[in-house]
Amino acid sequence: MAKMWAGRTSGETDRIADDFNSSIRFDSRMYRQDILGSIAHAAMLSRQGIIGVGEGEALIAGLQGILADLESGALAFDMTCEDIHMFVEQELTKRIGDTGKRLHTARSRNDQVALDVRMYLRDEIDELLPTLRALVEALCDRAGEHKATIMPGYTHLQRAQPVTFGHHLMAYAMMLLRDMARLSDCRARMNCSPIGCCALAGTTYETDRRGEAADLGFADICRNSLDGVSDRDFCLELMSDLSILMMHLSRFSEELILWSSWEFKFIELPEAYTTGSSIMPQKKNPDMAELIRGKTGRVYGDLVALLTTLKGLPLAYNKDMQEDKEAVFDAVDTAKMCLSVMTPMVAGMAVQADRMKQAAQGGFINATDLADYLVKRGMPFRTAYKISGELVALCLREGKVLETLPLETYKSYSDLFDADLYHEIDLTTCVEKRISEGGTSISSVDAQIAYVKEQLG
Ligand code: ARG
Repeated sequence: MAKMWAGRTSGETDRIADDFNSSIRFDSRMYRQDILGSIAHAAMLSRQGIIGVGEGEALIAGLQGILADLESGALAFDMTCEDIHMFVEQELTKRIGDTGKRLHTARSRNDQVALDVRMYLRDEIDELLPTLRALVEALCDRAGEHKATIMPGYTHLQRAQPVTFGHHLMAYAMMLLRDMARLSDCRARMNCSPIGCCALAGTTYETDRRGEAADLGFADICRNSLDGVSDRDFCLELMSDLSILMMHLSRFSEELILWSSWEFKFIELPEAYTTGSSIMPQKKNPDMAELIRGKTGRVYGDLVALLTTLKGLPLAYNKDMQEDKEAVFDAVDTAKMCLSVMTPMVAGMAVQADRMKQAAQGGFINATDLADYLVKRGMPFRTAYKISGELVALCLREGKVLETLPLETYKSYSDLFDADLYHEIDLTTCVEKRISEGGTSISSVDAQIAYVKEQLG
């Protein structure tokens, strides 16, 4: 079929060139946004007297029919069209005749595609936010259940100080809360309409950009037409936010993988989110968590790909920019998929509190508290630190732990030691006394949960 843009040239391109050039394979998913944008455009053209009222009505009715038929499945995409914009216009003209050819007045595919992508991603963020919220809520629930469950806290993956499992989970809730805020910020900045920037320079028609933008739910319009058609910051910003989100999910996945290993056995993942091995009958593999960790790399890749595509582009539109969509759609699809498995996995994991406690008892993670005991009785911290270190070394030589070392031994290191030291270095005491804001005590974890819930509104 002759190209819609045939004129200067015959529009006869090579079939391979057509395939290479066309984007309908991946931009047809924006059909809804494209049609809604066109309906608002037709309404604006008619309001402004740029086209007749009857023509405006015919365009709108035709577009509504196309939308309904695409949604019901009565109409299929014509994959020989270059892109979704060409498909809709072609179908419209097929249905309502020459009036259909008036739709593309005072606009260009350059501002049209920028509009569609913004509208599409705006909708995607609106879907992502509640999904993310569900994960934060699941974390709060699990944290509430385990606010007194003691586990070793790690630095350098070495046992460091006791924390509660609830406290550990709330760390992820805080990260994801920031991810939600970042996505909302991104949506607000994205919410500017480029339609009416036209090909690059604006138009000689008396359009009403603000009215058209308001009809489409935009808070503002892009103020420079060259920028309006060239800007893909909103894609980059969304992919940056999704990369950070994925990094968080990946770190959490890594912990879930570690914790469900035989070496840790702190948790057991729900069966529905694990797989078996084709050869080793005993296996229960954390594939979903591993895939989330793995897919993080691909979302970073999407971001870097588009950053690289854009970095040398002169103003204004260049066809390179068609590459924005596959990258940003993949990033959004991937993040959504990962969230959809992460939430039930967290909600359903079994927590082996006894194993956590056992691990917490083994690594001298109360040594800081032992030093603090001496400090509270007047010893300078550095001296107390040294004595505690020597006591740990002694325990290691004698196969003991701080809890089982006799009082006489303690006294031989400092006469500030007394029988109450055993209470002070008890893991429950260690956790319960960390009442500083943001610390690991039950009351602090409760406060963290309350804060996150309040932020969620
Ligand atoms: N399919 C194109 C894209 O995604 C639409 C814009 C085409 N504009 C043009 N001047 N060729 O970028």
